[in-house]
Amino acid sequence: MPQLVPAMFRLRDLPASVRLVVSVFIALIGVGFLFAQANIYHRHHLADGKVGLTFDDLRIIYHGIEVPADETGSPVATSRMLDMVRPGGDMRKNLEQGGLPEITSLVAWLESGAPESTFDSPPAGEPSGVAPRRVIARRCLRCHNAEDGEKADTPYGPDIFEVDYQLVALMARPQLSESADADAKPGVRMIGPQTIAHLVLITHVHMLSIPVFTLIVYVLFLTADFPVRLGRLVGPVPMLALVFDFASWWLARFSEGFLIMLMVAGGAYAVSLAIQLLAILHSAWLAPPGGSSPTAAR
Ligand code: HEC
Repeated sequence: MPQLVPAMFRLRDLPASVRLVVSVFIALIGVGFLFAQANIYHRHHLADGKVGLTFDDLRIIYHGIEVPADETGSPVATSRMLDMVRPGGDMRKNLEQGGLPEITSLVAWLESGAPESTFDSPPAGEPSGVAPRRVIARRCLRCHNAEDGEKADTPYGPDIFEVDYQLVALMARPQLSESADADAKPGVRMIGPQTIAHLVLITHVHMLSIPVFTLIVYVLFLTADFPVRLGRLVGPVPMLALVFDFASWWLARFSEGFLIMLMVAGGAYAVSLAIQLLAILHSAWLAPPGGSSPTAAR
């Protein structure tokens, strides 16, 4: 049987100190990967307003979904703030830092028309809940304040301490929109997808980092002991899966079908990377020393 690649060195035959460094690297990548999954869950599971990462969360983030704007299908009064903090809205992520109680409080208040009378009251039926004023003070004022906020031109208060209802009301109270959105269908409202700017950001950050450690893991895998057939099968998968993964983030904007590609590519990457990591750890410590080179015929 032919070799997969010309033998470089055999991991098992390297000094223990080298194998230790390699193993720690592999462990860090493995744990880091688990944290990446936790991060995805944490960032996205509230997109559809419910706890737990579901297909709807993915649809909102990568494709967007249409929901009925109201029963009658006539032009509706919309609150600019409500649009921004709804699932898929640009300000949603800021609000999500407060967790479900704060999301519920602000959204319910905005949906009720943002009246001054309930600005300082916790949501009905939840006396221990957070009042909308507190939510805005905690999650929004940092940027939306007149003094030195990043968004000082649409402030909700004079400084980072004080929320002014009149200023909030300008954005929060429903206004009859003259339907600026040209492709808007009557009676239908679009939620998501994430902005192009954000997609550009995560694409470049991920594309310049993930392939690097994927390649390092692959090279180490080639020095490990594994059946040649397994190497042929599993070796190229992570890198190829990344191509489909990154591509699906963009393609899913046009067609929801690519969400399937996104999930399959993500799953294939996770499984094949895990196999490579385990094969490396195994041959660093458990494979019999000496003998033939790693990928030699067997
Ligand atoms: C990190 C800074 C930051 C935080 C925190 C923040 N915003 Fe914003 N906000 C911005 C920026 C920048 C814009 C303009 C860019 C855009 O439209 O995405 C904006 C725009 C808006 C708009 C559109 C109208 C306008 O002012 O231009 C609304 C409404 C809004 N934010 C509401 C909120 C609410 C509600 C919160 C709290 C849940 C919040 N923002 C928290 C920075 C912030």
